[in-house]
Amino acid sequence: MATTRHFLTDLDLSPGEQREVLDLALAMKADRFGYRPYAGPQTVAVFFDKTSTRTRVSFHAGIAELGGSPLIVNSAESQLGHKESIADSARVLERMVSTIVWRTYAQSGLEEMAQHSKVPVINALSDDYHPCQLLADLLTIREHKGELKGLKLAYLGDAANNMANSYLLAAVNAGMHVAIAGPEGYHPEQRIIAAAQLRANETGAKITITSNPAEALADADVVATDTWVSMGQEEEKAERLKLFTDYQVNAQAMAAAKSDAIVLHCLPAYRDYEITAEVIDGPQSVVLDEAENRVHAQKALMAWLMAASGLSAGPAGAHRESGD
Ligand code: CP
Ligand code: NVA
Repeated sequence: MATTRHFLTDLDLSPGEQREVLDLALAMKADRFGYRPYAGPQTVAVFFDKTSTRTRVSFHAGIAELGGSPLIVNSAESQLGHKESIADSARVLERMVSTIVWRTYAQSGLEEMAQHSKVPVINALSDDYHPCQLLADLLTIREHKGELKGLKLAYLGDAANNMANSYLLAAVNAGMHVAIAGPEGYHPEQRIIAAAQLRANETGAKITITSNPAEALADADVVATDTWVSMGQEEEKAERLKLFTDYQVNAQAMAAAKSDAIVLHCLPAYRDYEITAEVIDGPQSVVLDEAENRVHAQKALMAWLMAASGLSAGPAGAHRESGD
């Protein structure tokens, strides 16, 4: 029997598997309603401990497009995470749904859920990682720049948050060179840099962690940033808005990257804090393609995990060309 595959961090897919998911996402984007691995309909439960627009809507749309039935739950209205053990929730859910998606705080909660679940568990953002977002980002880079391997991505801003960690891990997994710039004390943790370096040794990626934005931006094909105040950090807002000012993605920063560099932001964006309106609304920005690609990337991920776990006939499910 196949082992259940989960997607809790960006490194849960090998470089080859990550490529397979991105290839499948491109195929699904080209034939939006042609793949139905959740036909039945099978139910996918999507829990939110934190607020969301893109993740909520893209999972709902994607699950429905795959022939499934999306069940979107605000965790506060359920027992999950506060009124029963995560293990008990997992053992109940696996008998009712085909996949569990969860946006939460501690990564350890997701790990516990996965440990007790026979159906795939997907991280829809935790304090440590946002790996579904990165699949959408890599898809967007592929569409605009072609082959990922050898490209350079620069991330500026809060370099200790979930997006910085996921940029580092996912981009290195794809063989991209990654430069992360943020103030001293706000860099990725050593354990994350070490994990990225191990994967980089396999893929040939180069890692730079710096406090100098110009060093990160030099020769960058892709420039990325994220909010300076992540969900759960609202009380530190005043202090954080001062901390990261030298790492704003503005016209001057863009001038230090390649002239044809593209700009990514997972959204929601706070114009004139982490990124100027001129840049995010300007010609180098691809943030709306990036947002749309959440649907396609997550559809491919769900279909791939179901197939790899032995829970569906293949990633395509009842693809219409297969005659089903
Ligand atoms: N990028 C992202 O995850 O957006 P939401 O918080 O709106 O889901
Ligand atoms: N770093 C942000 C990402 C939001 C999609 C947060 O965690 O709030």
